[in-house]
Amino acid sequence: MDKIIKIALVFGTRPEAIKMCPLVKKLKENPKFKVITIVTAQHRQMLDSVLELFDITPDYDLNLMKENQNLWNLTSDILLETKRVFDKIKPDLILVHGDTTTAGISALSAFYSRIKIGHVEAGLRTFDKDYPFPEEINRVIVDSVSDLMFCPTDKAVKNIENSGIKKGIHKTGNTVIDALLHVVENKKTNLDFINLNPNLKTILLTSHRRENFGKPLENICLAIKELVEKNKDIQVVYPLHLNPNVRNTVKPILEGIERIKLIEPLDYAPFCSLMKKSHIILTDSGGVQEEAPTLGVPVLVLRDETERPEAIQYGGVKLVGTSFEKITSTVQELLDNQNEYERMSKAVNPYGDGKACEYIEKIIEEYFDI
Ligand code: UD1
Ligand code: UDP
Repeated sequence: MDKIIKIALVFGTRPEAIKMCPLVKKLKENPKFKVITIVTAQHRQMLDSVLELFDITPDYDLNLMKENQNLWNLTSDILLETKRVFDKIKPDLILVHGDTTTAGISALSAFYSRIKIGHVEAGLRTFDKDYPFPEEINRVIVDSVSDLMFCPTDKAVKNIENSGIKKGIHKTGNTVIDALLHVVENKKTNLDFINLNPNLKTILLTSHRRENFGKPLENICLAIKELVEKNKDIQVVYPLHLNPNVRNTVKPILEGIERIKLIEPLDYAPFCSLMKKSHIILTDSGGVQEEAPTLGVPVLVLRDETERPEAIQYGGVKLVGTSFEKITSTVQELLDNQNEYERMSKAVNPYGDGKACEYIEKIIEEYFDI
């Protein structure tokens, strides 16, 4: 009988789920693979909404999220609980995604268990250990223990090559484009419940990064308040991340202001519709920066450094940081300068062609010689 390769995909947060579910589906179609889905549930509700959208029931649900959890308890829980499952199922390969604690620690756990590791969205770097925190170090950990690295861009490939790693590096594009195209083409959504005013320009805001907690997030909120007061033709929608550190800062500043809608996190399909409808997106999210150029919406990134410089080079994204002045002046210029707006919204997406999952599947087949 032909060899069957046992592949366990391990993920736990919303963005990992969005970027891994299309891969779960693709690999499951291949009879040479036995696919096992393990979720740490580092996120609970935000993970479940993605699993439901892609109709995936995990084989193992570690159910680890705790209210306002910290990096220490999450790290030790993931390390011990993944070991338990790896010992039981003995996979030939595990796949992790990106830079979360789930990715970093599951990879370390698999390394301790001498299991082969594949890193989806490998090679992103700011080269500053503190930004984004702790994600930059998670990426370095995962790439240093990986056997296969699936890089979204040439730049990501170079970053890994420059670190001295010589084998297992592949350029595949980012699976986020596979997910986005699938949802935009197949899922109809209705945004009536947000009650948007069709006569106003919509600015979509998301911010949740740890390094923005406190003063930077306060600055972002104050800048938004100022922009809404000055521009009577805009409305802002902010789907608030469930992290209490975000909510406790944002609500006292922005709640109850006219033309600012603070809403619950959106399921992925309505969120894609909202991105598409938006005039400008302000975000510190990684995934949103990668998606928006496909939808032709300019993105202003609320961070000082980025591991995703490609879309900036291609013109669809600008790095604005978190100072009140820089945010208000850059948004105002984009509202007022039609030529600049057109230039940004017509930029090409550098993150892939929507076939990353297919490329990853082929690379795994070749690696195991099947
Ligand atoms: C995590 C990742 C970050 C990623 C982000 C995506 C780490 C260290 N951080 O940050 O890289 O960009 O996810 O969103 O891995 N919560 C809920 N329900 C949910 C999700 C979160 O209630 O479905 C609340 C809980 O109180 C939880 C808290 O948010 O304890 C923080 O979750 P956590 O995953 O630790 O941090 P994030 O800020 O979400
Ligand atoms: N997203 C979503 N609903 C929301 C906000 C974001 O589905 O209310 C999606 C978004 O399209 C992207 C992903 O979640 O694919 C990004 O997740 P997040 O910003 O939490 O994490 P990051 O990408 O920064 O790690």
